[in-house]
Amino acid sequence: MVGTAHRNAGVEGVEGGVGLTALMVAAARAIETHRHDSLARDVYAEHFVRAAPASAGWPVRIEQAADGDANPLWGRFARYFGLRTRVLDDFLLRSVHPQGARQVVLLGAGLDARAFRLDWPSGCVIFEIDREGVLAFKHKVLGGLSATPKAARVPIPIDLRADWVGALTDAGFDATAPSVWLAEGLLFYLPNAAEKYLIDTVDGLSAGGSALAFEAKLEKDLLDYRDSPLYISTKRQIGIDLLDLFSGEQRPDSAGDLAGKGWSTSVHTPFDFTRRHGCGPLPEQNDALEGNRWVFATKPRP
Ligand SMILES: C[S@@+](CC[C@H](N)C(=O)[O-])C[C@H]1O[C@@H](n2cnc3c(N)ncnc32)[C@H](O)[C@@H]1O
Repeated sequence: MVGTAHRNAGVEGVEGGVGLTALMVAAARAIETHRHDSLARDVYAEHFVRAAPASAGWPVRIEQAADGDANPLWGRFARYFGLRTRVLDDFLLRSVHPQGARQVVLLGAGLDARAFRLDWPSGCVIFEIDREGVLAFKHKVLGGLSATPKAARVPIPIDLRADWVGALTDAGFDATAPSVWLAEGLLFYLPNAAEKYLIDTVDGLSAGGSALAFEAKLEKDLLDYRDSPLYISTKRQIGIDLLDLFSGEQRPDSAGDLAGKGWSTSVHTPFDFTRRHGCGPLPEQNDALEGNRWVFATKPRP
């Protein structure tokens, strides 16, 4: 068993604390990329995993994981991230259709390489918000690969627990034009107040025709799942104690809050998309994914 990454405001990069979860998702995307029935391809993902000492020994192909698909972390959970990546790729590309938004904001972007791997229409700007150490690591790895973004890319190093509106508007975000927002694997790490601030801010900065997708966890008590194969396996194999990193506070009802502000919302389980795509996780006993929801919201045009 490796050492455990505890909730730690002092760890700014990808080597520990919540930043390490960005590497976990990157490893999952690398594994998904190499599957014969891959739902999403990310050729950058394994480079991130190999570049960081904390993850250099992690699998980047399912054949490298002990027990393969039966491994709760690198089998089922990684497939969950593969499915999530695909569903949110589709959401983003749908939202920048010919008459759609041209500004994309990735909140808690981590090692998301969508700016480099998706075919964006001309004129798109991708704003990536994450903490400084995470974006610095990303910059170093992508720079070493001479990777070229397929849209204008604007990294914004800031903590989402701070007032991030000024940083985004200073970076050129235009609140009078439609935008598309993504909070993938983020909100449950934030304190309740930061999530509320984020939803209010997205609403305030979104012109009619804007869209937001986010992931929520609806469990009443996350600790009910502490013995689940997924949490146990993640802690034992890579030292990430997700329950320690998640905010323990009662979650706000962000989908309900957006509906109250006039947005149209739809709430799905990941399993809805497993059935749609023909692969991905299905429900199981003592399932840490039971409360996960993917929420899609659009703000009507006036
Ligand atoms: C599980 S990773 C997900 C990354 C990316 N969205 C993806 O799906 O690949 C969570 C990310 O949220 C970021 N994050 C967590 N709390 C944050 C905060 N307070 N401010 C900025 N970023 C934060 C972490 O640094 C990390 O990159």
